[in-house]
Amino acid sequence: MPSAVILEQTPDDIKLHNAKLVKVPKPTPNPDEALVKIKAVALNHRDIWILDGNYPKLVFNSVLGSDAIGTIAQLPDNHTLPSKNLKTGDRVLIMPSNGWISNPLGPEDETRYAIRGGSTSPGVYAHYTVNDQADLFKVPEYLTDIEAAALPLSGLTAFRALFTKGQVTKGQNVLVTGIGGGVALFALQYAAAVGANVYVTSSDEAKIERAKQYGAKGGVNYRHAKWDEELLQLTGGQKFHVVIDSANGANTGAILSSVLIFGGKFVSFGQTAGSFELGRLYFVRQISILGTTMGSRAEFEQMLDFVTKHNIRPVVGDVFHGLEKIPDAIQHLRDAKHFGKVVITVDGHEE
Ligand SMILES: NC(=O)c1ccc[n+]([C@@H]2O[C@H](COP(=O)([O-])OP(=O)(O)OC[C@H]3O[C@@H](n4cnc5c(N)ncnc54)[C@H](OP(=O)(O)O)[C@@H]3O)[C@@H](O)[C@H]2O)c1
Repeated sequence: MPSAVILEQTPDDIKLHNAKLVKVPKPTPNPDEALVKIKAVALNHRDIWILDGNYPKLVFNSVLGSDAIGTIAQLPDNHTLPSKNLKTGDRVLIMPSNGWISNPLGPEDETRYAIRGGSTSPGVYAHYTVNDQADLFKVPEYLTDIEAAALPLSGLTAFRALFTKGQVTKGQNVLVTGIGGGVALFALQYAAAVGANVYVTSSDEAKIERAKQYGAKGGVNYRHAKWDEELLQLTGGQKFHVVIDSANGANTGAILSSVLIFGGKFVSFGQTAGSFELGRLYFVRQISILGTTMGSRAEFEQMLDFVTKHNIRPVVGDVFHGLEKIPDAIQHLRDAKHFGKVVITVDGHEE
């Protein structure tokens, strides 16, 4: 029997939930679905929030995981896939959420929107999944399976943050915070691809050096008390049109009051470092604070076209092998030693 990694609830006195490998029956697709044989999956920080019980609307015993690449293993007899030009055996990426089609403002129906994994939308840490045919997309041919697995959730989040929200264009100064993160590295690569001047922050000087290989002009350590002054020294005093941020927390005050230009954009999609006090300088300085999460199916398609056009290869930091290694891989992500995405190859498919 095939296996899957489910979200197991633990008693109240134990803080962390479990990512538990269990045997599950092979699923059967409905006429508008396809059976996908999973070849590789990738972690997201979201997995940590879920296992910490720090995520809304958890569905216990549901399969975990948002990012996967696989091949189409089975189509129902009266399937509708040919309209998408996909066939059995094709390599596909799975849309990492359900229920957001194309509205640029946000999901069309909030009550039906769900991010894949640990939720009402089945996850992908499994040997097999069934997915709506509309949620399957051909993998850009130049990407390996491991690279492709790294792309969906982070690649989409960075794309919407930079372009739909930040409206980043050539020649603008862009700061990406916490460059070791999976989303942050896509934001760096995308912004560099359109000709922006990209700077980064990190807790680790070695990561800043590595970021330069992907187009960063420089960076500073966000743990330094005067990181904002160091940053503006690097740019010769030039401030930033857009900041792409996944951290929030104590450093946000400096971003809003001194790092951004007048009328700059603070694009925020995470709170890895906690919340922040808004203060008053953001409105005095005409700053737009733009919240964003992942993106629509239409943006996912645009993101795939963009990545292909610019020949962007996801940065994969570490690769583990086998679904049973997912707890180890999650611990590795917790330790934040990674640079780029953490990917797990999936093998040993049983019927
Ligand atoms: N809203 C959405 O749709 C969405 C989508 C994806 C992710 N997120 C959120 O965005 C965050 C990042 O996700 P991810 O999957 O890219 O995470 P990840 O790969 O685990 O990376 C987290 C990174 O955060 C950075 N960081 C930690 N503390 C920081 C601070 N005080 N200032 C700046 N950076 C800091 C670290 O960068 P260094 O290693 O360089 O120090 C770390 O590598 C998470 O909070 C996640 O939940 C939200």
